[in-house]
Amino acid sequence: MHAPSSSVSRTSVSRSLPDEAATAALGAELGRALEPGMNIYLYGELGSGKTTLVRGLLRGLGYTGKVKSPTYTLVELYEISRLYFYHFDFYRLEHPKDWIDAGLLEHFGGVAICLVEWPQNAQGTLPPADVEVHLALPVAPATGRDALLTAASDAGRRCLSVLRR
Ligand SMILES: Nc1ncnc2c1ncn2[C@@H]1O[C@H](COP(=O)(O)OP(=O)(O)OP(=O)(O)O)[C@@H](O)[C@H]1O
Ligand SMILES: [Mg+2]
Repeated sequence: MHAPSSSVSRTSVSRSLPDEAATAALGAELGRALEPGMNIYLYGELGSGKTTLVRGLLRGLGYTGKVKSPTYTLVELYEISRLYFYHFDFYRLEHPKDWIDAGLLEHFGGVAICLVEWPQNAQGTLPPADVEVHLALPVAPATGRDALLTAASDAGRRCLSVLRR
């Protein structure tokens, strides 16, 4: 059953994103709705727009520096208004627990916001998500991307409730 449209608590939001700017704008919107300590996991095949969304999120919060893909570094750290954002990319993870062996678990569970690309590669070892973002290429001849955001916690539901319909 669908929740009534007036419902404050929302468990999912879907969007079609016609171009790169739309992906970045969704990231910016999500960024404004985040609470400290949230975990955002981003799913979608290679080139589906995960890094673009994270870049839009960070830029939307005022970060003006470079936002590069952490594919080779596993994680990049950003500090915005005294809040830490850890941007992970587990594409190159060989074993799910390699990131823990690398000492990265300490970034979770505090006030920092963790944004994770390819979380499925760390399956079984990651703390639970608050919001999952799924990005996909639409069926041809449509272009752009389709986004589905789902909440997986109370904080996630509060977050999605703030997004435009
Ligand atoms: N809505 C959109 N429509 C068309 N192109 C888009 C859209 N969003 C992002 N792109 C483009 O998709 C390309 C890949 O984006 P991006 O690097 O963010 O993907 P990714 O999901 O992070 O990939 P990877 O899994 O390799 O890290 C970029 O060239 C970007 O401009
Ligand atoms: Mg990426």
